[in-house]
Amino acid sequence: MKITWLGHSAVKIEASKTIYIDPFLTGNPAASMGPEEATEADLVIVTHDHGDHLGDAFPICKQTGATLVSIHEVAVKAEAEGIPTEGMNIGGTIESHGVRIHMVQAVHSAESGDPSGVVVEVDGKSLYHAGDTALTYDMKLVGEFFSPDLSFIPIGDRYTMGIDSATKAVEFCRTKKVIPIHFDTFPIVMADPEAFKSKVGDMAEVIILKPGEFFIL
Ligand code: NI
Ligand code: MN
Repeated sequence: MKITWLGHSAVKIEASKTIYIDPFLTGNPAASMGPEEATEADLVIVTHDHGDHLGDAFPICKQTGATLVSIHEVAVKAEAEGIPTEGMNIGGTIESHGVRIHMVQAVHSAESGDPSGVVVEVDGKSLYHAGDTALTYDMKLVGEFFSPDLSFIPIGDRYTMGIDSATKAVEFCRTKKVIPIHFDTFPIVMADPEAFKSKVGDMAEVIILKPGEFFIL
């Protein structure tokens, strides 16, 4: 499957289904594409409703017919706009379009409901998107249950983990590969992904992308 980092926490997963997670494109200085280029999607997953994550999720769902997957309170708002939704909550698992989504703990804040992370199982691979979060022991449960093939981990500090915590998160969630996210979008979340890579060492393969670059998993 093709994994494209769109900048910030926005990722596109092209497998048997097309999935966007946290598609913050409009107003994102690092965005590698505009929302109008998202012409095909099956699922749009939102970890929490801060603007840099909810982003263009609703418009993309409207133009593609994709189902929005999010915490209940955000799903209710989407449903009110006529968007097909799968509301859920932390600890829950759903299956939509043949894709399994597990909602997991994130230690952060949100406007509506609680913030979350997600583990997505598609085409026999498991992908963990941590959302915005502090380091938490709950990540050990992600490791025990999924040992993800690939994780998206924030390293930009201030609003999320910085490099030291993110390195511990890689250990806790036992991910095989990791793509650092949520850094360099704005001056207040600058981080050096190479420093993260050297700290992680041989615990996991760190894949450093530039916005718009992809990785084949
Ligand atoms: Ni946030
Ligand atoms: Mn954020």
